Amino acid sequence: MYLTNEEEKALEGEFGEALEKAMRILVAIGDVYGAERLIKISSAHISGVSYKTIGDAGLDFLQDLASLGAKVLVKTTLNPCGMDPIKWRSLGIIDEDFAKKQMKIIESYTRMGVEPTLTCTPYYISNVPKYGEDIAWAESSAVIYANSVIGAKTNREGAPSALAAAIVGKTPMYGYHLEENRIGTEKIIVKMDLEDPADYGALGIYVARMNVKVPYFVLDGKALNLSIYVKYLGAALAAEGSVAMMHIEGFTPEWNKYKHEFSDKIIVEKDDIKEIFEEKSCEDEEDLIALGCPHLSVEELRDLLKYRPKRTTWISIGMDMYKAHRDLVNELERRGYIIAKGTCFVVSPIEKKFKVTATNSGKASKYLPSFCKQCVILRRTKDLLVISDENSC
Ligand code: F3S
Repeated sequence: MYLTNEEEKALEGEFGEALEKAMRILVAIGDVYGAERLIKISSAHISGVSYKTIGDAGLDFLQDLASLGAKVLVKTTLNPCGMDPIKWRSLGIIDEDFAKKQMKIIESYTRMGVEPTLTCTPYYISNVPKYGEDIAWAESSAVIYANSVIGAKTNREGAPSALAAAIVGKTPMYGYHLEENRIGTEKIIVKMDLEDPADYGALGIYVARMNVKVPYFVLDGKALNLSIYVKYLGAALAAEGSVAMMHIEGFTPEWNKYKHEFSDKIIVEKDDIKEIFEEKSCEDEEDLIALGCPHLSVEELRDLLKYRPKRTTWISIGMDMYKAHRDLVNELERRGYIIAKGTCFVVSPIEKKFKVTATNSGKASKYLPSFCKQCVILRRTKDLLVISDENSC
């Protein structure tokens, strides 16, 4: 990969060990993927935050890097961590040691200048890229959203490469930064209505299993709340497959920018999706209802006022959403919802307390069995909650 004089000096350690380490990561990746050069980024978003997933090795790595004086050069936000940083005790699954180490992880990131937003939907409030901008984001659900719905350009970064890019302010130019890799590769005709996050998620799982690369959707049925629920489609595609970009005809900003080259045409009907729901239907009754994967938007939070929980119900949101809408959050808590802010039911150790989780998220239904040993149920929102008799506002 071509490097400028400055980049060569950074790689040789002339500007300090932290920058050298970050450059080494970027150059190794750039060489593997045949990148021509590095390009500037406008923002980064980092995963690898939960102590449950990165453990002591991850904590040591971050503490070392922070001690070397590493600082991010661009706006950089952080994915959810393993607990609600404010009321972790009351959720009843975190011990003192976990909490201490989790706080040290967050502290190491903030020492480097990373904003502790603790959300997987940074695009709502704290990190909103513009169309066409190059960025370096980890968190697969945010990556596919940024590429597809915003029209920013990012690869599916891992935690170290997103952090390295944030420190250098650049990323190797390959993959989804290049227009030729953003062209639709399979045409997906959806001949059914999409009315709930669970429908979008089940569709994503079904399509990802066809090994698609850049699916191009034609929605032939009703697509309720597409602008709000599209994240559930992307998150499921990215979790079940390795999809980082999709197009939706007439909706996503690049759907008519390219001459798409379809290698396949796939028709999806109601019965196909029914199979996904049947597969994810644990026979035991749920002891946890989990909403907010990916983290909820303010519209979704408001919508929940129409319902009330019928059993323990976690709602996951980012710290930025919590700070921006405290009154709404307080009202939802008053109505019996448990607001798990800055975390989620996948990256926190819910297996210490729960065995069966029902969710409306396709992505969560994929990860809950493996990451949290849960017997899982994928179900539509209205079937997880009950209609509230209180005035919704
Ligand atoms: Fe976000 Fe956790 Fe789901 S990080 S996308 S809520 S698994």
